[in-house]
Amino acid sequence: MTPPPEPASPVVELADERAARRGLRLFLKRDDLVHPELPGNKWRKLRHNIGPAREHGTLLTFGGAYSNHIRAVAAAGGIHGFATIGVIRGEEHLPLNASLAHAERMGMRLTYMDRTTYRRKHEPDVVEALHERWGDFYLLPEGGSNALAVRGCAELGAEVPGFDVVCCPCGTGGTLAGLAAGLAPGQRAVGFAVLKGGFMTAKVARLQHEAYGGRRGDWSVEDGFHFGGYARTTPDLDAFADDFARRHGVVLDRIYTAKMMFGVLALAERGAFPEGARILAVITG
Ligand SMILES: Cc1ncc(COP(=O)(O)O)c(C=O)c1O
Repeated sequence: MTPPPEPASPVVELADERAARRGLRLFLKRDDLVHPELPGNKWRKLRHNIGPAREHGTLLTFGGAYSNHIRAVAAAGGIHGFATIGVIRGEEHLPLNASLAHAERMGMRLTYMDRTTYRRKHEPDVVEALHERWGDFYLLPEGGSNALAVRGCAELGAEVPGFDVVCCPCGTGGTLAGLAAGLAPGQRAVGFAVLKGGFMTAKVARLQHEAYGGRRGDWSVEDGFHFGGYARTTPDLDAFADDFARRHGVVLDRIYTAKMMFGVLALAERGAFPEGARILAVITG
């Protein structure tokens, strides 16, 4: 058997009575500590895309005005020496918010796309128009989830042997697609969708198909913890995240990791995990 790869980020055990009273052991994989400018799944997803971006000289990608992905791509371009273009959903608002200002400081050129066209951003005629304007570029989809990103996230799965269930939040699905593919037989992955709509299972399956030609690993998606949809929060979620920070000294972001952690503890409470299971939650950013 090949030994597991050297882990890129630490695992810590949480003393949390909500898990303990169900006979579970709960751990966090602090992937947020993996890289100062490209934390968590950003580093995992960008790693294998850097080579092709450098070959093309320019990387173009898409995101909302507060996108972590846009910010991370700009940083990757600055660090690894390729030009970056960020196509931002909607209209320009000046002054730029902190996230876009940071992207611009890292050298990213920002351009804006109206919301109707943005919905069709990956369709051939829209991409063609972008090429007419910007010339040659390497296109990275919104959220950075492509086959190479999935392979990068599979390395995360290979780093966590010995856990029965490995959990992550899902936005565009690339992290779960790779994580599940990298796990060993007997391990399973659970993704917590942060968007409303129930389409995440299909997205993850599509990404695994793109990366491997078919489904890989044992995984499922929980659709009941989106708290109203992307970037929505509720008083319950806020109270949960504040309490989690007090108990464990870990600040969960409301968009992704708080929803996952709330879901993990709710499933534990419902008896969804077998007694004695070792549950690992990935802090993805
Ligand atoms: C902190 C964090 N966690 C999780 C995700 C979701 O990952 P994915 O889009 O691969 O499902 C994102 C967005 O990419 C993120 O910024």
